[in-house]
Amino acid sequence: MALNNINEMFDAENFRSMGHDLIELLTEYLHGSLEGEGEVLAWKSPQQESLRWQSSLPRQGELTSESLISFIREEVLANTLRVHHPRNLGHQVAPPLPIAALCDLVAALTNQAMAVYETGPSATMLERQVLSWLSTLIGWDNAEGILTSGGAQANLTALLAARQSMAGHDVWRHGSAGEMRILASEHAHYSVSRAAGIMGLGTDAVIPVAADALGRMRMSDLRQQWKSSIARGDKPIVVVATAGCTPTGSIDPLKEIGEFCHQQQLWFHVDGAHGASALLSEQHRMALQGISLADSVVWDGHKLLYMPAAVSAVLFRNPSHSYAAFAQEASYLFQGNCAIDEAYNTSYRTLECTKRMMGLKLWAAFSLYGTDKLGALVAHVFQTAKVLAEMITATLDFELLMRPQTNIVCFRHLPKSVMEPEVLNQHQATLRNSLVQSGAFHLTQTSVHGSIWLRATVMNPLTANSDLKILLDTLRGVVSR
Ligand SMILES: Cc1ncc(COP(=O)(O)O)c(C=O)c1O
Repeated sequence: MALNNINEMFDAENFRSMGHDLIELLTEYLHGSLEGEGEVLAWKSPQQESLRWQSSLPRQGELTSESLISFIREEVLANTLRVHHPRNLGHQVAPPLPIAALCDLVAALTNQAMAVYETGPSATMLERQVLSWLSTLIGWDNAEGILTSGGAQANLTALLAARQSMAGHDVWRHGSAGEMRILASEHAHYSVSRAAGIMGLGTDAVIPVAADALGRMRMSDLRQQWKSSIARGDKPIVVVATAGCTPTGSIDPLKEIGEFCHQQQLWFHVDGAHGASALLSEQHRMALQGISLADSVVWDGHKLLYMPAAVSAVLFRNPSHSYAAFAQEASYLFQGNCAIDEAYNTSYRTLECTKRMMGLKLWAAFSLYGTDKLGALVAHVFQTAKVLAEMITATLDFELLMRPQTNIVCFRHLPKSVMEPEVLNQHQATLRNSLVQSGAFHLTQTSVHGSIWLRATVMNPLTANSDLKILLDTLRGVVSR
């Protein structure tokens, strides 16, 4: 390839001019989304779409910078789920703070690989600072941890560390005996049982603990399940509590579970992927009382810390546990320096070797807005969820599953005629599909004890009470069509 081609591909001035155009385009997109313009999702069938998106392998490179920008406008942005749209009430995905998106551009261009300190000195320092701030919010002094790509990986890391620390032998080296068990709420995220599968314990090693009517782990059942597990000759090693469980946003009784774990010498893991951000709000942090008793905590940035995906923290109260999940020798990376220096090489503690610079966006958000403003975002969406729940309770044609403890509201439509449970379930699913495909709102659904519920997750602080009223009216309109 001629040198001028190479120069063109890396041309910094091209980057500048295309960057300006791209920022203009994204600003337009952001304005439109925040103002609730157009559809939340321009629904198209994936099978039909996949045909339209197929093209032959480009040999020459036919696109220009201008046509790339047009493609991003007309095809990419036009076919997104608009997470900043006030009527997006679907998944637990943050509308990212724009400043965090800009920081991600810095991460992309500088490409700090972060496996070891020398591949990202500033990235390493920012990550350590952010982890220390999150630990302070939990109520820990000297905790350590790591940022990972997502809560599922963070849960796996915590459970690997729990097993290595609790097994009584070096599982990392010699493998695992099969009798180890994980106790987790029936509503725990699937990443917990997936981790058990990956760890070779088998998904059956996760013992489900029943939840109460508010979706919280029942202490009586936890004690019972633990006792029965011991009686069977198993070795329960860890209890996973969820702070903000995925189906309903419920928060397990962390203090009671933590005390039980201390009494029985079990590892206490809190999956706070969704709900740990309640710690930012003076009004809501009490709901997580007892989280500081945990041995490990998972906290997603791309949920209620308003970050672009994916960034999650896995934190360990005892700093030495942050090394327990993985134990690798790799002389091309780790050069046997003293422990103090090696602590700056992040890949000792992660599944990932190369890892994106994830700390800058969090560092920037905390530094610009402080816990006050970030906490206010959390309090605001919790309040909007409460308003939606109150509106539902005041109607005769909708039923609320439970009072929301965070920002997730589960409810269902009650048609005039009485329906068999199966038909009622199908009614909710059909209702959701029609609503989502209309583009008017985005909602999810969840199944609790065999019943299907519509599930609204209020992630966007710009969702107004008027949007909630329109949501219920739109659902009624879909029913009467
Ligand atoms: C409670 C909980 N834990 C873990 C996860 C997995 O996190 P991630 O999607 O970041 O991998 C989720 C995802 O929604 C969750 O709700």
